Amino acid sequence: MHKILFVCLGNICRSPSAEAVFVAKAEAARLPVSADSAGTGDWHVGEAPYGPMQAAARLRDYDLSPLRARQFTAADFTSFDLIVAMDEANLHDIERLRPAGSDTPVVLMMSYAAEAGVKAVPDPYYTRDFDEALDLIEVAADGLIMRLKT
Ligand code: 4NP
Repeated sequence: MHKILFVCLGNICRSPSAEAVFVAKAEAARLPVSADSAGTGDWHVGEAPYGPMQAAARLRDYDLSPLRARQFTAADFTSFDLIVAMDEANLHDIERLRPAGSDTPVVLMMSYAAEAGVKAVPDPYYTRDFDEALDLIEVAADGLIMRLKT
């Protein structure tokens, strides 16, 4: 069982989407996984994913409504096998909390889709392009699942 944590800044747009997309694709691929998401910031703790993000995801049959935001903590380094960051700022903020001796990998989401030609999933809370974020998350989730299957 692969235990994977997706992390962004607010945990209301990109990482909950990544969690839901990844879980749906893993189920379709019959790959046993346990997934969660978290934000490096604490502004939205306890909230459901952002309304416009939920709406865009629902059009693709991903239900984000049961998810609730939480903040990333150092304990996540021991609870998960792999931590997937949406952008470089997330990666940096995660690494600052790495406990001594932890070797849990922290990787960029888009490293699983080199063909997309971008390093980060742009934050749709600011770009307002929720479909761009979902397009990138879907292709990267496919790449991640392919990697986990081999
Ligand atoms: P996310 O987007 O990191 O993809 O969840 C954000 C949502 C809200 C904020 C930042 C990023 N915010 O600062 O409120």
